[in-house]
Amino acid sequence: MESIIIKGGKTLKGTINISGSKNASLPLLASSILAGKLQLNNVPYLADITSMLDLLSSLGLKYKYIDKKNKNSIFLDSTDKVSSIAEYNLVRKMRASFLVLGPLLTRTGFAKVSLPGGCAIGLRPVDLHVYAMKTLGAEIELNDGYVIAKSKKGGLIGNKIKFPDISVGATENAIMAAVLARGETIIKNSAREPEVQDLCNCLVAMGAKIDGIGTSVITIQGVTDLKQVTHDIIPDRIEVCTFIIAAVITQSHLSIHKINTNHIKYFLKIIEEMGVNFKIEKNKIEVFKSGILKPVSLKTSAYPGFPTDIQAQIVTLACLSIGNSEIQENIFENRFMHIPELNRLGANISIEGNKALIKGKSSFVGAEVMATDLRASASLILAGLAAKGITKVNRVYHLDRGYEKIDQKLSACGAEIYRTKNERP
Ligand code: UD1
Repeated sequence: MESIIIKGGKTLKGTINISGSKNASLPLLASSILAGKLQLNNVPYLADITSMLDLLSSLGLKYKYIDKKNKNSIFLDSTDKVSSIAEYNLVRKMRASFLVLGPLLTRTGFAKVSLPGGCAIGLRPVDLHVYAMKTLGAEIELNDGYVIAKSKKGGLIGNKIKFPDISVGATENAIMAAVLARGETIIKNSAREPEVQDLCNCLVAMGAKIDGIGTSVITIQGVTDLKQVTHDIIPDRIEVCTFIIAAVITQSHLSIHKINTNHIKYFLKIIEEMGVNFKIEKNKIEVFKSGILKPVSLKTSAYPGFPTDIQAQIVTLACLSIGNSEIQENIFENRFMHIPELNRLGANISIEGNKALIKGKSSFVGAEVMATDLRASASLILAGLAAKGITKVNRVYHLDRGYEKIDQKLSACGAEIYRTKNERP
């Protein structure tokens, strides 16, 4: 198992290019089950992406990397797809594997998908996914840890899906199922995340008929087949925000390129209120050394609100502000596992229910810490960059699920960061 070692306190300088979005890539990879043939560009080369490719291969899809060096362009071919059974040993690695349910069911009339695993950040049930499939006419059975879904003869039938709560994954599964269903589907209270929009935009290019993209009511007219396209994945907004915080936390001047500033508006508003000094240009942001940071009070919520995937990182930043901050986690019920680890690095944070109460003016001091989930890992790397002395972050495989070459990108800008194979020397 690998660890990351950081010698903190270095100022960063230079340019960072943002990778394609992991969370946009995963449903788009699943959508290749619908498409026959699909080329995706700007796919980040990450453990979660290879997990999805392994799953698709197990279903009989073929894929090849078009750029063999960076592995960011993938051609997928589902013409000879053979199986509709997504096995436990592949699905358990990542919750997003469950996104094959809708495409398999709508294409073949049958899907048997293991209940998923993924980050340990809460219960993360799949009831909303199952509800969407049932509403489109599927018969669903839960058996032996698998969801077994069958459509009636003639396939899924368009209907009104009214989600009681917003779910990114369930919205994506519903959209992928509905594009090949018979007739009209209206999805109410759908997720509006840029990643959902990217999926819709690619499906529309393939020939799907989708209205209301980016709104909470999506209307789909089913079609009988889709055509081959090439699609460029949007930039990873979570990675952008993480690197912005890396710049602020190290009092650095960094230029972050290949971004879409429209996707991070709420985050930019928050850091502006905190006193972060930055300038936005078309597809880039320049972050300058900031003065004293003000505390922050925020709640995570579905897009366009503050993303839960940046909660851990903003908690780290709030530790360095002057005053008391309050950060409420509203999406996942167990997403504060970074807090005891940040406290080991010198933070002063307590937890009250779903609120993190942060006493600012902390100075981080290096220590050995343990990454517990993907975004928690990023928050520890950030704290390590700002810390006096050496920080060792163990279990970095979480980080490799979601941040492409984070250590290389940071070290190219002057951070002292490297990997070691031995978790406990
Ligand atoms: C996606 C993102 C993840 C992000 C999350 C919320 C991907 C691959 N992952 O995850 O990084 O943190 O959105 O922005 O895109 N829920 C139910 N029943 C369901 C489905 C979800 O109760 O059937 C609950 C979840 O437990 C959670 C909330 O709804 O509390 C939001 O989850 P959801 O939006 O579905 O997250 P994911 O799609 O899993």
